[in-house]
Amino acid sequence: MTSSRWPCPRWIAHRGGGTLAPENTLAAFRVGAAHGYRAYECDVKLSRDGLPFLLHDATLERTTSGQGRAADQDWAALSRLDAGRWMAPAWAGEPPPSLDAIVAHCLALGHRLNVEIKPTPGDEVRTGEVVAAALERLWRPGEVPPLLSSFQTQALEGARAAAPALPRALLIDTAWDGWLDAARGLGCVAVVANHRLLDAPRVAALREAGLGVLAYTVNETDDAQRLLALGVDGLITDRIDRFAPALDA
Ligand code: G3P
Ligand code: MG
Repeated sequence: MTSSRWPCPRWIAHRGGGTLAPENTLAAFRVGAAHGYRAYECDVKLSRDGLPFLLHDATLERTTSGQGRAADQDWAALSRLDAGRWMAPAWAGEPPPSLDAIVAHCLALGHRLNVEIKPTPGDEVRTGEVVAAALERLWRPGEVPPLLSSFQTQALEGARAAAPALPRALLIDTAWDGWLDAARGLGCVAVVANHRLLDAPRVAALREAGLGVLAYTVNETDDAQRLLALGVDGLITDRIDRFAPALDA
């Protein structure tokens, strides 16, 4: 699996439904589907008792009714939080979803999933291991597997150790020394880069290394046109209202 690219859709909805619904909730995935999306990025970390669930931040305040570090609470408590009201009253009552629930949703609809492993700091290896093992257990054989990505190389090492056949991608927000060698060394199939880092020489270097190229978070039309002209495989966007994947297949 590591020698082939992930069959990447051109458009991927960021955090489930971009900015149209509360990020990393099942409601967001439903809004993404209603806009024609068939592939999704989401952020996954672990509860105190080791259950993988969707949340971007290390702490609960910004996007849920909870307080403090997510990693300090068990899933039973986290699953009762409100992850919708922060955005608008109409979303009140939307809970943070488990990874299991999101996988079941995607499999039922035949949608693709890019799981960003977003460990609580200090929990990188375990998070990579647990998330990868869960996805290997939950995903249906024969379906396009989920793509596991992370900024944290230790999380990708953990994912490789637990489920070596699942495709991995290194996320980069800056062009740090050795990022391309790191992606190769981790057996990645792709790099997911901040779109501002991507230019012709870097895309050529990634192609030379046999790696797929994805870009985040692409919200402006001129940025999308520039990246597609460079030959970027997939674009992760918040603006699911602006970019219509069905028209671009
Ligand atoms: O996976 C791409 C993108 O989601 C990475 O940044 O902070 O939005 O998770 P962030
Ligand atoms: Mg993310």
